[in-house]
Amino acid sequence: MAILSPSILSADYMHFHADMDNTKQSGARWLHVDIMDGHFVPNLSFGYSWVKAMRKITDLVLDVHLMIDTPIKYAEEFCKAGADYLTIHVEADTEENIHKTLDLIHSLGVKPGIVVKPKTPAEAIAPYLDKVDMVLVMTVEPGFGGQKFMADMMPKLKTIRQMLDKVNPACHLEVDGGVDLQTAEVCKENGADVLVAGSAFYGAADRKAFTAQIEK
Ligand code: DX5
Ligand code: ZN
Repeated sequence: MAILSPSILSADYMHFHADMDNTKQSGARWLHVDIMDGHFVPNLSFGYSWVKAMRKITDLVLDVHLMIDTPIKYAEEFCKAGADYLTIHVEADTEENIHKTLDLIHSLGVKPGIVVKPKTPAEAIAPYLDKVDMVLVMTVEPGFGGQKFMADMMPKLKTIRQMLDKVNPACHLEVDGGVDLQTAEVCKENGADVLVAGSAFYGAADRKAFTAQIEK
């Protein structure tokens, strides 16, 4: 059974609390929180004070996606703020520092994850597969919601699922970017079990039906 992780980036910011409550009422169990620094990606979004505020009002699983350079500088703050999963980009630092960051996250009782951008090959995450609880495959260039799904990422998704099955079969495989009811099916067929949806979820006329359809 798949898990939906609605991306709060696409919520109505003037009714943020209501949208969080409504997300829970839709039956979703996770919430995807996109953190952008204006360097790693050409956009800005939330900081850790947002994660802390969200943690106070919800028991949704906070799936925090760091789109920031040198995540080792900020990982501890996001863990303390209440992230349940904290995913960092493999492109965001040296191999040594990525190892250190994942170990740090784990030592703080948070589930570490590693993310790959569309142009990054599957092999880039091989050194980390035995120490993560989630791998996230981007199906758009990170930075903005509402972009078109890149179907050509499906072979990479399948390869990563096969790599994980050998060394860490319990690890989640998540997709993020352009996921809707149709593209979700293709992702599931290729091994994804966690599906992020921003614009498709918050724009859905019936969020409950959307969640049920993704998680069926
Ligand atoms: C993009 C973000 C996504 C974004 C997805 O950089 O990582 O999580 O919110 O939005 P949609 O589902 O609209 O593509
Ligand atoms: Zn994301």
